[in-house]
Amino acid sequence: MSDEEGSEEYLFKIVIIGDSAVGKSNLLSRYARDEFNAHSKTTIGVEFQTQCLKIDGKEIKAQIWDTAGQERFRAVTSAYYRGAFGALLVYDISRRTTFDSVSRWLDELNSHCDSTVARMLVGNKSDLENIREVTSEEGKTLAEAEGLFFIETSARDSTNVRTAFEIVIREIY
Ligand code: GTP
Ligand code: MG
Repeated sequence: MSDEEGSEEYLFKIVIIGDSAVGKSNLLSRYARDEFNAHSKTTIGVEFQTQCLKIDGKEIKAQIWDTAGQERFRAVTSAYYRGAFGALLVYDISRRTTFDSVSRWLDELNSHCDSTVARMLVGNKSDLENIREVTSEEGKTLAEAEGLFFIETSARDSTNVRTAFEIVIREIY
């Protein structure tokens, strides 16, 4: 944190987790660059983007980390979570198996981060309403039981993407 002429700067690390192909990388590219890739490849290792925003007149830098959902392509788990202030746990509303994995991701998150980390459960691909397998109600119920925020997003049509990240950032701040 720096302090120039009374204006403070905050740097927050946020991690995105969830099964492969739920849309983690596209949520990040939509938020950080307003880009969507219909043919994106699985992430290898770890990538991150820094996004600047202003909340209550304060400059906030959110450093958002993205890794592969598949174990074999993932970054070293403990390093990935180290220093995180917030987490987006993503599933795909059109694939129930990705929702079934949420508890496993939560266990991993809880084993690496303390309970003060701001957590958001994200049901992505809300544009795929016609092939939905997980109801909004199910997502909401799980989030309430686990003490998470909940939102449904679409990286494809941009719905709620900014809101998802900014709720977490605000909660940290
Ligand atoms: P890994 O890196 O393997 O863990 O996957 P990921 O979670 O980063 O998924 P990625 O962002 O690469 O997206 C996987 C596929 O889903 C791609 O074909 C995307 O175009 C597609 N996709 C991502 N978000 C959405 C969305 O909101 N709606 C729809 N319809 N497709 C999406
Ligand atoms: Mg990815």
